[in-house]
Amino acid sequence: MDVEEVIGEVLAKIRPSEEERAFVERLMVELREIAKGTIESLGLDVTPYFVGSLAKDTYLAGDHDVDLFLAFPPDIPLKELREKGLELGKAIAEKLDSYEIAYAEHPYVRARYKGVKVDLVPCYDVESWRDVKTAVDRSILHTEWVLENLRGRNDEVRLLKRFLKGIGAYGSEIYVRGFSGYLAEILVIKYGSFTGVLENADFMLRQKIIDPGNWLKREYKIAMKTIKREAEEDRPIIVIDPVDPRRNVAANLGWEKYGRFYFKASQFMEKPSAGFFFPGRPKAGSYLAELRRKGTHLVTLLFEKPELVDDLLLPQLERSARGFEKALEREGFRVLGWDIGYSGKKAVIMLEVDRIERERVRIKPGPEFFTEMGRDFYRKNERVWLIGKRLYAEKRVSEHVVDVLWEMLGKNQVSLGKGIREGIKRASVLVDYVPKELKEEAYLFLSREKWGLRDQKEDFKA
Ligand code: UTP
Ligand code: MN
Repeated sequence: MDVEEVIGEVLAKIRPSEEERAFVERLMVELREIAKGTIESLGLDVTPYFVGSLAKDTYLAGDHDVDLFLAFPPDIPLKELREKGLELGKAIAEKLDSYEIAYAEHPYVRARYKGVKVDLVPCYDVESWRDVKTAVDRSILHTEWVLENLRGRNDEVRLLKRFLKGIGAYGSEIYVRGFSGYLAEILVIKYGSFTGVLENADFMLRQKIIDPGNWLKREYKIAMKTIKREAEEDRPIIVIDPVDPRRNVAANLGWEKYGRFYFKASQFMEKPSAGFFFPGRPKAGSYLAELRRKGTHLVTLLFEKPELVDDLLLPQLERSARGFEKALEREGFRVLGWDIGYSGKKAVIMLEVDRIERERVRIKPGPEFFTEMGRDFYRKNERVWLIGKRLYAEKRVSEHVVDVLWEMLGKNQVSLGKGIREGIKRASVLVDYVPKELKEEAYLFLSREKWGLRDQKEDFKA
């Protein structure tokens, strides 16, 4: 298939149908009415704005969450914005189907209406970046900028977003570190089309700086400061926000995700297929066969998953996995890799280690023999000897990795995520065995297909 055919096939799936469009538009009209009525009845000076992909018409079919921003006058204090904003959000949500309070920089209401998620987010009604006070204030400006500049290339954005989702590089959440929807929009505007963006994957990286708002002409000093800061942070690319010269739109884009995009973009241009957009389930293999092939071992910690959102839970699991890696390496085990996640009510940390048993003794270097400390060392240790003037002794240590793990945990020698520390201390530790529901994950981790850049099937053909 050529690129055009593939694009046609994919667009048929991701472009919203007329019914969906009509439903979404109707929904927005209703929500605006409800919001306006509630604002009026509370006597507030607030303007409701739709932002996000719905307002920009860059949403993917079937994925039409509503972002309704409640914009307060810029001169009210932050405390008032938080309180009144939450109060207004709740009052609006009372008229919808259900809601809960969610937390970001400030609390907001997450409601449901006719089966659709509706975020009611308080913000300041700013006209320029100079007035931006909270992280969400720019969204209204982003929406305006995209609407002015996208000029009919909405489907190109849809293609790029779906492609990024398919290759696992979409989402600016800290645990994803991928491309945000807004970044995808800017890139399409800059390079003209979906394939235009893909063709520039290498060029972008070399050019490093993308400045669609011409800030280097308009606000040279501020833009340079942003570039310097972000270059020091070693970001893959620096995209100066066209609505705010102080911000890099790609600040949350990590090298791994840019790397995935880099390779997948050229693979796609060489051999286009819809599989990039809609990857099938990875074909499962046997994790036990992987362990035999590699001659390594798998240590799995399974424990109760605390009630935390992914934004909090996943970074904590990562931190803990790194903690185990460090601690085990200190104890003489080599850690070849780790993986984290959860399945149902259980959180999981997997560690791939070079062995499960180590030597039963450790050689303990002591002081010089003719000192007070030396004589003490001699008295306290059973097997002692000299090398030069220094004393050495043998120390018995646990040999099994599970015993070592429990010892380290008991002595608080593993740096763990705060919200999961207690759970981990009551974990079950499994060696070279995982329950049925984790078999596939274990295979994907051990084979590294979980993060693989190449299609294994193609490797076989070559
Ligand atoms: P969303 O993450 O919902 O993005 O953020 P989106 O453009 O609506 O895309 P999808 O289709 O839902 O995935 C909503 C708005 O928040 C701002 C942008 O203004 C975006 O339009 N935002 C969000 C950022 O500027 N950066 C981010 O990393 C996330
Ligand atoms: Mn959105």
